[in-house]
Amino acid sequence: MTGAERREQITAEIVARTGITEAMIAQLVHAFYAKVRKDPMIGPVFEARISNWEPHLAQMCAFWSSVALMTGRYHGTPMVKHMPLPIDAAHFDRWLELFEATAHELCPPVAAEHFTERARRIASSLEMGVASGQGVMLAVGERYRRSEAGAVQ
Ligand code: HEM
Repeated sequence: MTGAERREQITAEIVARTGITEAMIAQLVHAFYAKVRKDPMIGPVFEARISNWEPHLAQMCAFWSSVALMTGRYHGTPMVKHMPLPIDAAHFDRWLELFEATAHELCPPVAAEHFTERARRIASSLEMGVASGQGVMLAVGERYRRSEAGAVQ
């Protein structure tokens, strides 16, 4: 079996187990970012940087296809994109809250759990990356809180 065939098999197994499809991913991504854009805490961080949402949404569909279905559709460097953002634990918590609410609204429980488990792991690693970019080494389980002086909206 080639690598590509093995990957297709893994994807088929995940689809059979979770019911996740590309259509479900597209629906989740669009509904989630509609909430994000209206959110007073994290909306402005996105609006300040994303002027054309269509390519971003397409990128996020590819990302979630890679993460949730192991399709390898996404080729990017999320850590590099997030390290300079003015965000900390509060922003990540809000992001996860909106993501989890959207996933549970739109997906069957097994699929929602599959997405949210991965989102939590990735959010935690991005938070560590953002902290280390600011010279802060987090201990296991520690959260990144910016000081008042460096606080950002
Ligand atoms: C505090 C929460 C977050 C904020 C404010 C945030 C903000 C952003 C912004 C502004 C961009 C566009 C960057 C650019 O193109 O210059 C972006 C891209 C992206 N974000 Fe986030 N993000 C957050 C959390 C997350 C989490 C938890 C994930 C994954 C589970 C994620 C995945 C991505 C990906 C894959 C991209 C595309 C990177 C690329 O261009 O390849 N983000 N995010």
